[in-house]
Amino acid sequence: MNIELAKSYGFCFGVKRAIEIAQKSSGAVTYGELIHNPLEIERLKRDYNVGLAKSLNEISSEKVIIRTHGITKEDREALKDKILIDATCPFVTKPQQIVEKVSKEGYDVVIFGDINHPEVKGVKSYAVSDRVFVVLDIDQLKKIKLKERVALVAQTTKKLVQFLEISNYLIQKYKEVRVFNTICNATFENQDAVKELSQKADVMIIIGGKNSSNTRQLYLISKQFCNDSYLVENEDELEAGWFYNKNLCGVSAGASTPEWLIQNVIEKIKQLKDDYGNN
Ligand code: F3S
Repeated sequence: MNIELAKSYGFCFGVKRAIEIAQKSSGAVTYGELIHNPLEIERLKRDYNVGLAKSLNEISSEKVIIRTHGITKEDREALKDKILIDATCPFVTKPQQIVEKVSKEGYDVVIFGDINHPEVKGVKSYAVSDRVFVVLDIDQLKKIKLKERVALVAQTTKKLVQFLEISNYLIQKYKEVRVFNTICNATFENQDAVKELSQKADVMIIIGGKNSSNTRQLYLISKQFCNDSYLVENEDELEAGWFYNKNLCGVSAGASTPEWLIQNVIEKIKQLKDDYGNN
């Protein structure tokens, strides 16, 4: 059995940047998970003395790192007496700035995304009025009565096809629509690569945090083309039977999955295939 990595996988620019920032910030705590990967968070604690505070009350350190997905404007205000180290991805800062600006200009704001996602909560908080609506799909949007001037942004990990559907709907229905494509390219690159690889692989292993939405999307794309697709957080979750009688094992990883973890998984796959005598 051959093992092939997707052409693009793993850490994106924003995550690499956040980790570099954290590695230089010994003694700090991150407010919320820096990235969606529990093992990387453990490593930062162990090797770089960077802790994790899940709520404002838990913050004991003077230095606070703002996670890749950003935080709400209110939380930033609550932390104003701390030394803030901002690891918010610039691609997340962008929609925050857009929402603030267009809502000041009087536009109703539509955010295409998941209301429960920290990034979306943060972006939404930058609106200066309550005319800001988060929708997960076009059906939710249809239920909302907007004013004539509408601005649209998206959560960075959303799919372009659905974003286009939403913008099409708005353009047909409202007089003035400003569309800001804030979807992140890093997500596309990993998605395109997994699509290509899963079409020829017999088994696909997607590595990443189960709470990471971009990892889940990679898994769902992979599953469309390769029924034997599995999402694992680390090498211990691999099962030998998955590789039995397979010729090509494809591997990809979410945007917050570290390289060391990917290598551990690949090593374990090699061991398992040897156990089965697949060569
Ligand atoms: Fe930023 Fe895109 Fe990564 S938004 S954190 S570069 S997936």
